[in-house]
Amino acid sequence: MKVFQIGAAGGVGQCLMKRLTAPGDAATGMHRAPQQAQKIIGFGGTPVRGDLITDSVDELSARMEGHDAIVFSAGAHGTGQDKTTLIDGKGLEKAAEAASRVGVRRFVLVSAFPESERSGGGVRALNTTCV
Ligand SMILES: NC(=O)c1ccc[n+]([C@@H]2O[C@H](COP(=O)([O-])OP(=O)(O)OC[C@H]3O[C@@H](n4cnc5c(N)ncnc54)[C@H](OP(=O)(O)O)[C@@H]3O)[C@@H](O)[C@H]2O)c1
Repeated sequence: MKVFQIGAAGGVGQCLMKRLTAPGDAATGMHRAPQQAQKIIGFGGTPVRGDLITDSVDELSARMEGHDAIVFSAGAHGTGQDKTTLIDGKGLEKAAEAASRVGVRRFVLVSAFPESERSGGGVRALNTTCV
């Protein structure tokens, strides 16, 4: 399977990429900073630059074309409500629309249950440990 990962250089993204590429699946990792490309190659993936805030749906579609599945694990990671809206909200909408346009029907979203906060536990950012 050929998987397109959004947020590939993040904690969840790195763990997943190692697990996908070890048994022989192919992963394309979308990242923002140029220096993250080498890291993604090191995990066995193919890097591609992209940004959920500035990219259009057409640009995202072009990158996703030919993949079997999308995994979205991008997130603002506590950098404020504005960024959360642009990345976790509007960025997700754009990515879903882009996947739909090029016929990628499998779309996995990594997120959190807001209910965990209501029950008093709070939603805490953890350092993802890849085992
Ligand atoms: N880890 C946890 O404890 C936890 C708990 C609850 C929910 N979550 C959610 O699970 C998801 C993944 O968690 P994580 O720990 O892997 O987060 P992470 O390490 O912060 O990784 C998030 C990734 O999203 C990328 N990203 C941010 N803005 C972007 C944009 N505009 N365009 C493209 N990529 C962008 C980041 O790229 P840069 O490296 O360029 O910043 C980073 O690689 C997030 O949605 C997070 O909110 C995580």
